[in-house]
Amino acid sequence: MQTVASIKKAKNGTPLTAITAYDSLFASLFNKKIDMILVGDSLNMSFNNKPDTLSATLDMMIYHTNAVCKGAPDTFIICDMPFGTYTNKKQAIKNASRVYQETDAHALKIEGGAEHAHIIKSLTCNSIAVMGHIGLMPQHVRAQGGYKIRGKNEKDTQQLICDAKAIEKAGAFCIVIEGVKSEATKRVNEEVSIPTIGIGAGNDTDGQILVWSDMLGFFQEFQPKFVKKYLNGADIVKNAIDTYVKEVKTRKFPTKEYTY
Ligand code: KIV
Repeated sequence: MQTVASIKKAKNGTPLTAITAYDSLFASLFNKKIDMILVGDSLNMSFNNKPDTLSATLDMMIYHTNAVCKGAPDTFIICDMPFGTYTNKKQAIKNASRVYQETDAHALKIEGGAEHAHIIKSLTCNSIAVMGHIGLMPQHVRAQGGYKIRGKNEKDTQQLICDAKAIEKAGAFCIVIEGVKSEATKRVNEEVSIPTIGIGAGNDTDGQILVWSDMLGFFQEFQPKFVKKYLNGADIVKNAIDTYVKEVKTRKFPTKEYTY
């Protein structure tokens, strides 16, 4: 099982694998197969059918993190801190401590660059392991008027490098880089000595993360360019339900085999 120390050592090594999970059942399928599981606030969209992540609450994250920890006891688990729970140092420490006290999560994730370095430092100084998250930050969607790919020019690439360095200096053990042009990601990755985990950021990071319901094909409404579907989950489920309904309606199920 990975630890903060082993994850840090993975810089420039074999890529780290990460996936999101929100419940115990799916987490148990990922357990021991993957380096890290993130209980992402993306659950607000794929689990709760909300338009963005902003209305996810700390209580929700703690509830789902407990479920994931139960299902994947042998995997390094990260709880995403939801919008509005780390706006100042005191609040961040109080809320992050709740996650450590009420769940078995190994680390927390916080969105934000250099402007959030002081918050990350206050957490790491209080023995809380922090994964950073830069680039396209879903919690900024309403303020920025949409999801914007980052690193499209030199100025923005320099900003991303500055963000990554500030987060590293503040004590984060790794950084998620989301929705960034691959050339910019490569340069950011080279500038920090902690591992970078990409999502929609190309193949020059120290690892990759995908949202489970996207990569297993359960979420059908929208498919970003960076998502490779490893399974057509929704089609498989729908076909199975159609067969079940047909068999019940025609009394093909249950046969003697399924009867006491
Ligand atoms: O909430 C989430 O699922 C995430 C990933 C996209 C990294 O933050």
